Amino acid sequence: MIVVTGATGSIGRALLTGLSGHEVLSAVRRPADDLGSPYALADLDDPATIGALLSPGDRLFLNSSLWPGVVDAHRAVIDLAAEAGVAQIVTVSVRDAAPGGRLGLGMHGLIDAHLRQSGVPWAVLQPSGFMQNLPGDFAGGTMYGAYGPGRISYVDARDIADVAAALLTSPVGPGRAYVLTGPEALSHAEIAAEVGKALGRTARYVDLSVPELAARLERQGLPQPLALDLAELQAQTGDGSWAPVTTTVRDVTGRAPRTLADFLADHAAAFS
Ligand SMILES: NC(=O)c1ccc[n+]([C@@H]2O[C@H](COP(=O)([O-])OP(=O)(O)OC[C@H]3O[C@@H](n4cnc5c(N)ncnc54)[C@H](OP(=O)(O)O)[C@@H]3O)[C@@H](O)[C@H]2O)c1
Repeated sequence: MIVVTGATGSIGRALLTGLSGHEVLSAVRRPADDLGSPYALADLDDPATIGALLSPGDRLFLNSSLWPGVVDAHRAVIDLAAEAGVAQIVTVSVRDAAPGGRLGLGMHGLIDAHLRQSGVPWAVLQPSGFMQNLPGDFAGGTMYGAYGPGRISYVDARDIADVAAALLTSPVGPGRAYVLTGPEALSHAEIAAEVGKALGRTARYVDLSVPELAARLERQGLPQPLALDLAELQAQTGDGSWAPVTTTVRDVTGRAPRTLADFLADHAAAFS
């Protein structure tokens, strides 16, 4: 059995498609009949409800959005998976995750470290930024950010799902982190140009300083420390460290990762 958490999310829904034909159980917080495959009600905030779904030899896909309790919740689920004799955990982390890192980088760094020493065979997916963020980023046609002129090798969440599906359905390999990117690194000005071209209307990227973006996010309702951390994280990932492209999607799935043009062709409606 493959137990899938985060099944209703961007990666999770694509993963279920990739796992069709396999014995899968999704762990969801609310009834999700639209998934089209078996599910059980469970909540990562109550780790025992996930643990109760696990049996010896199962494979576990562990993923969710982030919230203040996510580190404790994921670590508890990893411990329960070890107790249950789970054969492999595949998790979604983030590129450059490290304990002490900013926001998600730090949270994932702590979870990744716990998984590595859990005794359960593991695979940690460390993606770059998701192309699926872009429709929200360009709401109204303009994206405001603090990335600067640097390039980022965004990845399509469907490719992350395809890598996860391959790992969850092939023999368990040695523990490894997989840094996942798309096939190209683009600046946000270049991304805006591609978005505009694909949608047939103007799209632009406005680069702000970190304090300017933090102030803008605060005006939109984010608490001050979070707004500043988010702005600083953009400057950090835009400094070139998220530019290098990896071959991991192709290495694991046997085909090239989706380009931004591929993503835009499939998601034009999401920008409207
Ligand atoms: N976005 C990016 O650019 C980016 C880049 C690198 C890494 N990541 C990582 O990617 C992960 C998010 O993946 P995604 O985009 O596929 O997620 P997503 O679309 O935001 O969906 C989040 C999923 O987590 C589930 N979830 C949240 N809290 C839960 C809880 N307490 N118990 C059970 N399920 C819960 C949600 O279920 P409900 O339907 O019930 O809400 C949903 O299925 C995060 O770890 C993030 O740090 C994101």
